[in-house]
Amino acid sequence: MYFFSFYMLKGKKIILGVTGSIAAYKAATLVRLFIKQGAEVKVILTHDAKEFITPLTLATLSKNPVLSNFIANNNGEWNNHVELGLWADLLLIAPASANTIGKMANGICDNLLLATYLSAKCKTYVAPAMDLDMYAHPSTQNNLNKLRDYGNIILPVGEGELASGLIGAGRMLEPEEIVFFLDESTRLTEKLKGKKVLVTAGPTYESIDPVRFIGNHSSGRMGFAIAEEFARHGASVTLISGPTELHELNENIKRIDVTSADEMYEKTVTQFAKTDIAVMSAAVADYTPEKVSITKIKKSGDELHLKLKKTKDILAELGRLKNKKQLLVGFALETDNEVANAMKKLTAKNLDFIVLNSLKTKGAGFGHQTNKVTIIDRKGNKTDHKLKSKTEVAQDIVHKVMSLMHA
Ligand code: CTP
Repeated sequence: MYFFSFYMLKGKKIILGVTGSIAAYKAATLVRLFIKQGAEVKVILTHDAKEFITPLTLATLSKNPVLSNFIANNNGEWNNHVELGLWADLLLIAPASANTIGKMANGICDNLLLATYLSAKCKTYVAPAMDLDMYAHPSTQNNLNKLRDYGNIILPVGEGELASGLIGAGRMLEPEEIVFFLDESTRLTEKLKGKKVLVTAGPTYESIDPVRFIGNHSSGRMGFAIAEEFARHGASVTLISGPTELHELNENIKRIDVTSADEMYEKTVTQFAKTDIAVMSAAVADYTPEKVSITKIKKSGDELHLKLKKTKDILAELGRLKNKKQLLVGFALETDNEVANAMKKLTAKNLDFIVLNSLKTKGAGFGHQTNKVTIIDRKGNKTDHKLKSKTEVAQDIVHKVMSLMHA
């Protein structure tokens, strides 16, 4: 039983895309629930969807003509997919068949729904519906991952008896579950609305000469996950990133790329004055070559000595600049005396809390998809979290920030 106490979809303009799947009959209930919440709904049916549900049913329930073709009527009037895409606050494709998912992932655009998807500026939610083997197939899973990478939100599937009689995962969520999911996801985007967040991520590269540098193994994944999580809650995020292959997804993230510790220092300190919450997760070099050779250093002798000088500690500087309203979070990467060392950093750098990574845990830290952290705040509260995906660790960090904001 679902209670929509928030009615977050009230006044929202929703496009519901329905594709050819037996679950298409559930689109009628979906439209009814959206209308009940006070949303405005336009439905786009693919050609195959019409075999499962009639346009008349959906037009009656949505109180809008159902769209299916590029040409609207016999007078040659045009259903403008660009206008439709811009009209919507939210595009939901439910049920999304394996065929439509595959086309969306590959930029294929041979019907009105796909053209609208490609034109839409709003968030797109995809509710897959298919047989278990189709859902489990690596090509479907790759396509879903591609869609996630493009910033779409993929809803989970239900498990149980499927239309084929087989039992497993692939069933579209029930309409009530889908509306609940959208409600929750919309509510989330209100939580940190108006807050300005600054995140540093990734390694820094310190040049030795035009072809060589001193770097580290940081992938940037932890910082990017933190930036995404804040953005998902509606915050405006500035992400200052060292060299990484990653790319940000949420449009609430403004990314500034830097290379060296010195550049990261300059950009971060400049941004800090207009920041409410700062999380410094970058693996910043502590030392940099005293002199950078303009020309490539030639091989000579058996040894090469590089003289290094200390870089500026960005986090410590923010701790000095911080006012009472700003919240500052740091990371500590330790291999021994972990808690004692982290607590020293917490005090010395004037932080609100510190996220301790231990390199001793298998699967945690640099280069991994997972991390295991302990969060310690300035009151001495210490929470040991289990090994989790970096996205889940980011959720724990954002929850901690929100709990301190409301304390
Ligand atoms: N940090 C920073 N600027 C630096 C070095 C570190 O902002 N020049 C930040 C990191 O982003 C992290 C925290 O300081 O949030 C702690 O980094 P860590 O490498 O664990 O500690 P250090 O202070 O550099 O001390 P040490 O290397 O001796 O453990």
